[in-house]
Amino acid sequence: MHEQRDVLFARLKQIRSQLQNLSINDLFTLNPKRFEEFSTSIDDMLLDYSKVHINKDVLSTLFNLAEICKVEEKRDAMYRGDKINITENRAVLHIALRNKPEKAIYVDNRDIMQDVQEGLEKMQEFASGIRDAKILSSSNESFTDIVNIGIGGSHLGPAMVTESLKPFHDGPKVHFVSNIDSSHITDVLEDLDPKRTLVLIASKTFTTIETMTNAKTALSWMKEGVGEENVSEHFAAISTALEKTKDFGIKENRVFGYWDWVGGRYSIWSSIGLGVMIAIGTENFAEFLDGAYEMDQHFKNAPIQENMPVLLGLIGIWHRNICEYPTRAILPYDQRLSSFPSYIQQLDMESNGKSISSSGEMLYEKTGAIVWGDAGTNSQHSFFQLLHQGSQIVPCEFMLGVNKSETNMKEHNDLLIANCLAQSQALMAGRRIDEVIRVLEKRGVPHEESIRLAPHRQFNGNRPSSTLLYKKLDPKTLGKIIALYEHRVFVEGIIWGVDSFDQWGVELGKELATEMLSHVQDCDKKTDYSYKDMDSSSAGLLNTISAWQE
Ligand code: F6P
Repeated sequence: MHEQRDVLFARLKQIRSQLQNLSINDLFTLNPKRFEEFSTSIDDMLLDYSKVHINKDVLSTLFNLAEICKVEEKRDAMYRGDKINITENRAVLHIALRNKPEKAIYVDNRDIMQDVQEGLEKMQEFASGIRDAKILSSSNESFTDIVNIGIGGSHLGPAMVTESLKPFHDGPKVHFVSNIDSSHITDVLEDLDPKRTLVLIASKTFTTIETMTNAKTALSWMKEGVGEENVSEHFAAISTALEKTKDFGIKENRVFGYWDWVGGRYSIWSSIGLGVMIAIGTENFAEFLDGAYEMDQHFKNAPIQENMPVLLGLIGIWHRNICEYPTRAILPYDQRLSSFPSYIQQLDMESNGKSISSSGEMLYEKTGAIVWGDAGTNSQHSFFQLLHQGSQIVPCEFMLGVNKSETNMKEHNDLLIANCLAQSQALMAGRRIDEVIRVLEKRGVPHEESIRLAPHRQFNGNRPSSTLLYKKLDPKTLGKIIALYEHRVFVEGIIWGVDSFDQWGVELGKELATEMLSHVQDCDKKTDYSYKDMDSSSAGLLNTISAWQE
């Protein structure tokens, strides 16, 4: 398979060098139907990839690549519940969390759909109890605030989804604490009344140091606020480590479990979404799951030529391996999706930021691109300078909702849409130097001055982008978008041949932090340490910290 893949990579590189004679703009001029031919839609979601620098030949070779890398077979293995996370010997079944209960999925010869359904019902009962004030605080009052304590996949998903679905909030307000930095929990708790606050400790392993430290701090705060005997009424836990939640003192009926076949960064659909469900209600949460289910069905059944996650993944491969662009930008023109790029950073970079293949060999092809981005139009006034005129090309992934929840603010929305479309057009079309001179002179700038300024004001253009257009950011659409990106990560991971579902790269730093902690604790003694077993940078920094500690 590797040899065949290499042949196709070589073929794609060859096509690319021929294609360099034509700009993306030229491709539009030559083919008036380019938009129709290089876009695809599922109901009210459209992916326009016509502004990517590809032609039909590139696409068909990319489809070949997907075939020889067995993307469809491997997708089916995931859906079937095979243990495709081979370094942890686990199935990968986030799709089960949005599957219909009657459609059996087996793990170790057992249909897991009943467990999924029971887990969902337990969440629904609790979330509704909180929302309808049937579950009350220790002072017999309704809960006004929820604090989700978690990090990574136990934070980014719930935080991003909660923020994105603000217009659908009609439950208590949900707050998030993730960082070990004392400022985070202090700033969140200081405005809250412990008597009306419920704390959710969200951690798959229930060992993550940031989460457990924050949980202990929240416990002390709660003890002070409601009395030790009442704290258990103010806590719930979300975890796969049920024993550990018990040791922490969480009541059994307040523990929401999930399963080892749900990866942290794929867990928003599980009980990790409890805070979201409390905020938006069970029906909206069901819509959210339904959106993802629709994308799962599309990914499973659509031919690769029309398969949106496959297309997005193949374009990713084109940009990363053939054009050799090291990064890609995600640009939601939707303020409520401003945390979406951070969410995708974990999903994508923790999944595919690997240099070793599933079978343990060093990979010589580049893998996961650096993903970054922010909401438009804000980002236009910060890093878009580099996107338009910088010395490296960054493929841009625009996202745009046609309708807003604010139905009476047409002026804002028209401007938002116009800006989004104009940016992708500007990136592609650019502006030639002679045109710049003509425009400047037309504005009355003297000829000499126009010539001097023109190089600074010209745009090379030919910068690729895609646009994901959707009708409106509602729970269903958001579910669809997240699932689209999950499957895109899967497709890329298969082509690169990595295990997209482990994350060993985060372990070394965690281990060293544990060792480093004893040195940091020693800093208090204000001794002049000489760290024989340590590099001089770390030793020097520790000595300075020791001297500066107040
Ligand atoms: O350190 C990375 C990581 O393991 C992520 O994969 C995970 O989402 C996060 O930490 C939090 O882990 P947990 O939910 O077990 O606290």
